[in-house]
Amino acid sequence: MCTRMKKILYLLACTSLLAACGAETQDSQNEAAHSHDMAKMYKNDQYALKDNEGLQPLTFPKVLQPTTSDGENVAYTLIAQKGTMIFMDGIKSETYGYNGDFLGPTIRLKKGQHVAITLKNDLDEPTTFHWHGLEVAGDVADGGPHHTIKAGQTTTIHFTVNQDAATLWYHPHPMGSTAKQVYKGLAGLMYIEDSYSENLDLPNNYGKNDLPLILQDRTFIDGKIQYEDVANTMSTLGDTVMINGKVNPKLTVAKEKIRLRILNGSNALTYQLQFNNHMKFQLLATDGGFLNTATQMKKLSLSPGERAEILVDLSAVKNSTITLMNGDTKLLPIDLTGEQHVASTSSNQLNDRIIDENLRHKTPDKTITMEGTMNKLVLNGQSFDDKRIDFKQKQGVTEVWEIENAISDEGAMAHPFHIHGTQFAVLSVDGQEPPANLQGLKDTILVQPNQKIRIAVHFKEKGLYMFHCHILEHEDAGMMGQIKVD
Ligand code: C2O
Ligand code: CU
Ligand code: CU
Repeated sequence: MCTRMKKILYLLACTSLLAACGAETQDSQNEAAHSHDMAKMYKNDQYALKDNEGLQPLTFPKVLQPTTSDGENVAYTLIAQKGTMIFMDGIKSETYGYNGDFLGPTIRLKKGQHVAITLKNDLDEPTTFHWHGLEVAGDVADGGPHHTIKAGQTTTIHFTVNQDAATLWYHPHPMGSTAKQVYKGLAGLMYIEDSYSENLDLPNNYGKNDLPLILQDRTFIDGKIQYEDVANTMSTLGDTVMINGKVNPKLTVAKEKIRLRILNGSNALTYQLQFNNHMKFQLLATDGGFLNTATQMKKLSLSPGERAEILVDLSAVKNSTITLMNGDTKLLPIDLTGEQHVASTSSNQLNDRIIDENLRHKTPDKTITMEGTMNKLVLNGQSFDDKRIDFKQKQGVTEVWEIENAISDEGAMAHPFHIHGTQFAVLSVDGQEPPANLQGLKDTILVQPNQKIRIAVHFKEKGLYMFHCHILEHEDAGMMGQIKVD
């Protein structure tokens, strides 16, 4: 059997045998508690990944330079283009990238800025440019599946940054081929800063102590990535981790406090992050910005589409290496250089958001049931129809949405639920107050089988927005709906 066939079979086995009725770890207790006895539970986490061997230096995406800027008005150009990349063994893969061969540059914006972005599609197929987490007008700038840019075409969008500091990202969203285009390399980061975030006592030297980590998993077949060879509608899971587009990267940093801005840019994999020495780190921010206070954690789960900013104090590490793990798998080896002593920062007050307590007791205005594993991938029993408006909501009005992950006759799996054009607050998880790591703003949240999560949703702008499962294969298969905000 050729290596290609063997790998595919291996991965298929991994995805289908993850019926998690067996393997009980501490992490899965929560999931197990939600599982139905007889139903088949599919897991999308670390099982298939190999250790990262740390063979080459980790690099960081370039920061995109504006084409024009007076500080308040900025203009950028982003081109979706074809490329080639050598990931391993001198073998070329055909890839996609923004302004380059693979992935895209980091776009750095500031609250209040008026932004113009010229978008060019140099691919041979239609694409869109979606700004995941950005609160912009649905019909103008969101870049959902209705905003197709045909091959060879160019358009310019305009928006004003009207939200607090956050780590967002961008990726394509064309109907039915989002998963493939992201897998081939279309994804990038968008940072928003504000005058408050710029004055926080946090590492903010891009690429030095403020480090983006775009986590993606891929399967290389004969040294190449090719989505069509490995695509699996239930979840396309890889056996190899790629960080910022590099395979087997290693990070080298001084023994100081570092800030990691982590994006789960995988199609389907949920990461279970921790350090090999089980050290604590502080969670600073989630999808939509800073938590009110930094939260100490040892383990962090990150589902597709989610981001987390963490502060890691490496000055306290005795050894000269430490490893960021995904469960028991080596995700990123870190070499520490020098002895650096950093005075510990005092305040961990980062934000001052308050939730209207009345919302916690309110009957949900909208209920969305996610259901599916392989064949039936639906929201409220229906597959996506671009001619159907599933919900309406008034601009600026906060509503309570209840998101449920139902177990169907096929079984169940966890689904990351995402809404465009808004950052929501989590009101409750199965009727309980959300844990500390879910107390900040979010645009994507993992819902376990049988779990019910209530969120407070409001849209600052008008327009048509998508909500969907962020397992990209599920989104492409129709696990998506649309809401009209007016
Ligand atoms: Cu990150 Cu509708 O997408
Ligand atoms: Cu989005
Ligand atoms: Cu899903």
